[in-house]
Amino acid sequence: MAQRVGTTITQHILNQQRENPQATGAFTNLLNELIVAAKVISREVNKAGLTDILGSTGEVNVQEEQVQKLDVLANRVIIERMQHIGELCCMGSEEVADLIEIPHKYPKGNYILVFDPLDGSSNIDVNVSIGTIFGIYRKISNEPGVDYLLSDVLQPGIKQVAAGYFIYGSSTIMVYTTGNGVHGFTLYPSVGEFLLSHKNIRIPEKGKIYSVNEGNYNYWDEKTRALVDYFKTKDKSSGRPYTSRYVGSLVADFHRNLLKGGIFMYPADLKDPKKPSGKLRLMVEANPLAMVVQQAGGYASDGHGPILEIQPKEFHQRTPLFIGSKHEVSLAEQFISGQRA
Ligand code: AHG
Ligand code: MN
Ligand code: MN
Repeated sequence: MAQRVGTTITQHILNQQRENPQATGAFTNLLNELIVAAKVISREVNKAGLTDILGSTGEVNVQEEQVQKLDVLANRVIIERMQHIGELCCMGSEEVADLIEIPHKYPKGNYILVFDPLDGSSNIDVNVSIGTIFGIYRKISNEPGVDYLLSDVLQPGIKQVAAGYFIYGSSTIMVYTTGNGVHGFTLYPSVGEFLLSHKNIRIPEKGKIYSVNEGNYNYWDEKTRALVDYFKTKDKSSGRPYTSRYVGSLVADFHRNLLKGGIFMYPADLKDPKKPSGKLRLMVEANPLAMVVQQAGGYASDGHGPILEIQPKEFHQRTPLFIGSKHEVSLAEQFISGQRA
């Protein structure tokens, strides 16, 4: 007898869209194609050690970071799959300096996809989890004959209509939200489908984990150091010291803390004068995860206020990020804004 297979991601998206009277199917089509792209990337990641796909291309990207071959492959897979479906008016990728136009030969749609094709590049060659992060916005302009305006892309994160990520780890997982809770799916390799494995994820109000690259300690300002010192200080009544976990792939560090509770931080630092806001990117990393965490009952801040309310000035803008359980992220805001020392 065939084994009973649970809810597939496609069924789940369709069920959610059925509750939306304005749904046309465009959005379902878009997510489904993105899932196909992620399956292709997952397959390539899984056989990476066997093919000539590990290592650097020898090039440096718009972020002035070494480009890995898998970065390029993931970026290409997503662009090629998404450009022809007729649901997008443009895309924005961490790996591409300019916004990505939809070629003339393909129909245009009303959505904008922003993505980090491969997050955790430094972990590609060492078999540590990596992932893909995405956010989706609806086009707001309505000028005849114009595919999109810059203002359609530079919307604050609160305007995302969906966001999520894929993790290529011990298994391949997809976590997504369309503003109606956060749901996780695991790729069942022999069936080739993502099946519901984490229904309605809620992040604990308070956690025990802090995740930060502490090698940057001496590049941080006093407030950031005081915050991290606080998590390490022994105090039984407030459950300290916290435990430290950091693998260096944002998706993986975020996902662990989403399930277990705690805080992930990439604060501003003085390491590189050209990057005064830290390393992470507002539009392709911080905003999608901020929507996910908010939908799961957590919070994301730049240390002063909600990530989701920041009005982006440019696509590749960076931001300090404090994200996770409400309790710890609120504490971070108190330290960073100087209300607490
Ligand atoms: P990407 O691989 O997309 O460039 O992102 C890497 C990011 C993020 O995944 C991670 O949290 C962070 O870089 C780690 O940076 P450090 O090595 O400075 O800790
Ligand atoms: Mn990244
Ligand atoms: Mn990346």
